[in-house]
Amino acid sequence: MDARILLLPGDGIGPEVVEQAVRVLDAVAQRYGHRFAYRTEAIGGGALDRYGDPFPAATREALRECDAVLLGAVGGPRWDHGPVRPEAGLLALRYELGVYANLRPAALLEGLEAASPLRPEVVRGTDFLIVRELTGGLYFGKPKRRDARQAVDTMAYTAEEVERVARVAFRAAQARRRRVHSVDKANVLETSRLWREVVTRVSEEFPDVTVEHMLVDTCAMQLVRRPTAFDVILTENTFGDILSDEAAAVVGSIGILPSASLGDRPPFLYEPVHGSAPDIAGRGVANPLGAILSAALMLRYSFALEEEACAVEEAVREVVREGTTTPDLGGGFGTREVGDAVAERVLGRET
Ligand code: NAD
Ligand code: IPM
Ligand code: MN
Repeated sequence: MDARILLLPGDGIGPEVVEQAVRVLDAVAQRYGHRFAYRTEAIGGGALDRYGDPFPAATREALRECDAVLLGAVGGPRWDHGPVRPEAGLLALRYELGVYANLRPAALLEGLEAASPLRPEVVRGTDFLIVRELTGGLYFGKPKRRDARQAVDTMAYTAEEVERVARVAFRAAQARRRRVHSVDKANVLETSRLWREVVTRVSEEFPDVTVEHMLVDTCAMQLVRRPTAFDVILTENTFGDILSDEAAAVVGSIGILPSASLGDRPPFLYEPVHGSAPDIAGRGVANPLGAILSAALMLRYSFALEEEACAVEEAVREVVREGTTTPDLGGGFGTREVGDAVAERVLGRET
């Protein structure tokens, strides 16, 4: 197939990990006879420097001429105190694309038991999917303002916003172990009480899926006590942000978690869960697996290339099993070496 991929490498380690994901995509193209055309645009801090806008017009326009978007990361201390932050560019991009369902799979890969802070017998078998609402809640609710003496953020949800993301979670559960934990704070928040009511209603469309409601503080605890109890976790924007970093630690490193952000129509957005990691940027040691696995999700969800997506995921599993990992996973390899190892596997040329 032919596909046009928009690359938004962004800041810090973003460009380093996106480069490796592209090498793996090129290996897929070569092995399976596809053609991927890339275009690169600016987002985040780099775009602020160049255009004075973290989501510039050229990037917005490029969205109309692509089939999928692969993003690295945005942000960094250099831009933390300006009037406009790089992160605003990422939020504008998600909103513009209408990608309301953010899928963040977290599974323990064989060989990474020691990278998890949990005991091997607790973490072994962990394999769950966080479905995070991505275009609502505290991130986007109005009013949102600040003056010298007061600041306001608003958590707001409509029933429609909850319904559509809930359906994504229930459908995902049908293809997994058919269990959804809907996570909220219904003992305190009105938005959560609406969330719970709507999720309960949507669950009736999926009689083959079991739904359980859980408070977010309990969920944070259960994720480290018994991570294997979870299959699909459905939750709102802010809770999903926080729980997914916790999930990353459980399975070994924030560097390996991928994500797919889906809406009702393409293009969809793919990005690793980690940030720009200013503390290691430019040193060639960033883990590229989150970006590479995000590219695999792109193959699956945007291009319906299931076999190719599985080939990349299997290559990653093998590379991790043989110990070709970056320092965050306890290995001594660099970003490029890990990218090389995955690409070689995809090409069927094991080293
Ligand atoms: P971070 O995810 O960038 O880093 C947290 C820790 O994890 C750091 O020690 C970092 O070195 C490590 N880490 C992250 N990714 C790694 C990788 N691929 N390989 C190895 N180690 C990795 O989070 P932070 O430090 O809180 O945020 C830094 C900046 O990134 C902030 O400006 C934040 O807003 C931004 N951010 C952006 C995104 C995004 O673009 N999607 C996501 C999260 C944070
Ligand atoms: C993430 C990030 C972003 C978020 C930031 C950078 C806006 O933390 O994708 O998890 O909070 O959504
Ligand atoms: Mn986050």
